[in-house]
Amino acid sequence: MEKAKKISDSEIEMVQLVLPNDVNLLNNLKGGQLMHWIDIAAALTASKHSEKYVATVAIDSLYFRHPIRRGEMVKLQARLVSVGKTSMRIKVTVWAENLQTGAVIKTNEANLVFVALDETGRPTRVPEISE
Ligand SMILES: CC(C)(COP(=O)(O)OP(=O)(O)OC[C@H]1O[C@@H](n2cnc3c(N)ncnc32)[C@H](O)[C@@H]1OP(=O)(O)O)[C@@H](O)C(=O)NCCC(=O)NCCS
Repeated sequence: MEKAKKISDSEIEMVQLVLPNDVNLLNNLKGGQLMHWIDIAAALTASKHSEKYVATVAIDSLYFRHPIRRGEMVKLQARLVSVGKTSMRIKVTVWAENLQTGAVIKTNEANLVFVALDETGRPTRVPEISE
């Protein structure tokens, strides 16, 4: 059995800038682009915890509470919620910052499940959580 690890050891923050190619006709960040960033942020946390290859197995929820505008800075925080034998539940929280006013607003929350994979692509055990 692998040594248990702390949730804080695999927590990550990822920052992005919303560029013209990322927005829709209303100048809001495209949902698909944000989903891509959420998937990457959660995959980084899953990889750090498991130290294995990982695959997205489920996106259980994704809430769009506020639009994110062109030119805003987007901060994504991914944090482990729980682990099973080979699976990891991860919550991603998203904030947008207006760089002209400094205003920060929580815009999204997502819950995803990742599975750790061995060299042959089969599910493999992940460390337990120690806190
Ligand atoms: C990931 C994959 C290898 C798992 O294979 P599988 O035959 O379902 O494996 P298992 O049934 O042993 O499930 C593995 C774990 O995933 C969990 N799981 C499977 N489907 C799930 C779902 N829809 N929601 C939550 N957990 C799920 C199982 O409960 C199990 O957890 P545990 O080991 O912690 O108890 C397979 O589903 C797969 O290849 N999916 C495609 C992944 C992909 O292409 N993702 C997008 C690109 S990264």
